[in-house]
Amino acid sequence: MRASKRSSLIHLIYFSRSQLSAEPPVRARQIAEIARHAQKKNEFSVITSLLIVDQGYFIQILEGERLSVQETFQRISTDVRHRDVHIVEWREITKREFVTSFATALRAPSNEALFQRANLGPMLQRGTPKASTVYGLAQALQAEVMAKQGIDHLFV
Ligand SMILES: Cc1cc2nc3c(=O)[nH]c(=O)nc-3n(C[C@H](O)[C@H](O)[C@H](O)COP(=O)(O)O)c2cc1C
Repeated sequence: MRASKRSSLIHLIYFSRSQLSAEPPVRARQIAEIARHAQKKNEFSVITSLLIVDQGYFIQILEGERLSVQETFQRISTDVRHRDVHIVEWREITKREFVTSFATALRAPSNEALFQRANLGPMLQRGTPKASTVYGLAQALQAEVMAKQGIDHLFV
């Protein structure tokens, strides 16, 4: 018999087409606005997540208790700041991989090599990104950000 009953932990990966401005400074402000709000809400719901922004696409991983993730995804999927929201994978996990309530990783010269290695572009255009590829890229992007902050020992 189990000593304690743990609620089920899941992750949900989706991708969508961004409806944000094509102007980089405007877009940066819009993303900051999403992040400010999402961070607070995810903290409250004990959700950890990473949002990848790559050439007009959003790819997000949400981790947390099943009902919290479902409720959050329902809100996200009806947000007019993106469209064509498709779930890539939804499954139970044994532990979280992401450390913050809401982190964003924008494609930039500093992480270009990681994006190129993952080569998500053609999969996104075909509408069939592989969960393992998204997951690997997200982990590498998180590790890069954390290493810059001197927190690389967590990821050895
Ligand atoms: C790409 C994208 C990612 C988002 N991620 C989150 C998220 O992780 N958590 C969250 O609560 N809201 C997120 N949002 C915002 C929600 O879609 C929605 O605007 C917000 O949760 C509504 O909050 P409210 O009910 O307090 O107005 C995201 C929006 C977009 C466009």
